[in-house]
Amino acid sequence: MIFDTHAHYDDKQFDSDRDALLNSMEALGVGTIVNVGASLEGCRKAIELAAEYPFIYAAVGVHPDDVGDLNEDTFAKLKTWCQEDKVVAVGEIGLDYYWDTQSHDMQKKWFIRQLELARELELPVNIHSRDASEDTFQIMKEHGNGLEGIIHCFSGSKELAVEYVKLGFHIGVGGVVTFKNGKKLKQVVEAVPLEKIVLETDCPYLAPEPYRGKRNHSGYIKYVAEEIARIKQVTYEEVVAQTEINARKLYMKTAAEELINNGKGGNSIEIVK
Ligand code: NI
Repeated sequence: MIFDTHAHYDDKQFDSDRDALLNSMEALGVGTIVNVGASLEGCRKAIELAAEYPFIYAAVGVHPDDVGDLNEDTFAKLKTWCQEDKVVAVGEIGLDYYWDTQSHDMQKKWFIRQLELARELELPVNIHSRDASEDTFQIMKEHGNGLEGIIHCFSGSKELAVEYVKLGFHIGVGGVVTFKNGKKLKQVVEAVPLEKIVLETDCPYLAPEPYRGKRNHSGYIKYVAEEIARIKQVTYEEVVAQTEINARKLYMKTAAEELINNGKGGNSIEIVK
């Protein structure tokens, strides 16, 4: 089933129908969702959602736009949250020079601190990078060594994607791959092996075609998987099964063998372990 590696169901855009929507996920073919915190408040809500719904897990971290809220006290709180049940990653963390709400020095400082936190707690990371490709890659090379994780909503070149894969990271692919002007990401999908790709919504943002501009949700990931299948010339089922295994191995440290034996990885499909 579909594994959405990056969603924000704590967003107020879901206030009117959150429970009904989340309860419809299984019928829409969505098996697992990681709700990613961006602010401190978002992290708290992500943990609450994970406690409430069996198929939701949480990632805890502070987005570069919000690192102004971090200090030694709040960072200590973040560390405690990272050790809660069902918290599977540190994220989303990184650099954002598009909104540029915090100084680059501050963004870098807290990005590095949170990478170190992930290393200490042996958690994977979920990386946000916007208009900051070079600095993000530099920091990941220097401070991300040995870590695992996802470069979320990847927007760089195919060459950069291949470099991240060499460092051991997965590439998060979402709605943008279905856009007419999503050529760069289509090239990334072509260049990166399927076992290094994971599916994501970043919902409520970045809905795929034919819902571009509308509120996004995990049920729309099927359009992303269809486009990846088309680009890589494999079946839709293979994309869903392989990306689910990729995400489970990464976030839940589940062995691929166990997934295949449980039938969760799909049958009669050649799965790359
Ligand atoms: Ni996000």
